[in-house]
Amino acid sequence: MRFDILTLFPQFFETPLSSAIFQRARDKGLASFNTYNIRDYTHDKHNVVDDYPFGGGAGMLLKPEPIFEAIEDVLKDRHLCEEPVPVILTTPQGRPFSQPLAYQLAEHKRLVILCGHYEGVDDRVREHIVTHEISIGDYVLSGGELAALVIADAVTRLLPGVLGSDESAAGDSHSEGLLEYPQFTRPAEFRGWAVPEILLSGNHAKITAWRREQSLLKTAERRPDLLSKASLTAKERKTLAARLEEPEHNYPDE
Ligand code: ADE
Repeated sequence: MRFDILTLFPQFFETPLSSAIFQRARDKGLASFNTYNIRDYTHDKHNVVDDYPFGGGAGMLLKPEPIFEAIEDVLKDRHLCEEPVPVILTTPQGRPFSQPLAYQLAEHKRLVILCGHYEGVDDRVREHIVTHEISIGDYVLSGGELAALVIADAVTRLLPGVLGSDESAAGDSHSEGLLEYPQFTRPAEFRGWAVPEILLSGNHAKITAWRREQSLLKTAERRPDLLSKASLTAKERKTLAARLEEPEHNYPDE
């Protein structure tokens, strides 16, 4: 997968893109990451990328010309017969980012990510060149760079071969619409806190059933919104309802 990231702050990406999952994917030849400075696509003496909004109001907007030029330049070698490349704008007004969306994006050979900035972007960019507007949560960042990294990370780790088979993304929280069960490593007892005995039993069927139950309980307690969309058997729904009735699961509202 090739990622092309357009930003006013390419230096922001230097360390992250040469660390951790990104470096791993690059080393394995499974992903490449290019950053472009939108300012390099201006033609005036002062490299102006923003301007006042028509109609007045606070703040400055990113101008359309350098953004169109940058995206067109990045995509210029693409053949018409190739699949269209998603052009993602990171914006708090976008569709909420999610694991299913990460899986969808991971299907593509290329992604262009445009980092929004300042008070916003001229709407013609959104309307005529952007294909996906994505928000990483209901809060406002000062720029779209962190959002671009979040999206790139979540997508990169899904590319076949990036994670080893023993650490595949299949069991992750959200991969089946549920939160992940609790995990433990050695020592089996730490400061008097023992690991659940079942995990030491060697009985794999029981361990799998325990993990599934823990996953369901945690999701029900913390993210009931996810549970309503997850696929549970009728028996699981019944058992879960009964388990949630038990006193240790009755937390007072925060
Ligand atoms: N830019 C500013 N806030 C953002 C958010 N929550 N998601 C994506 N891009 C953003």
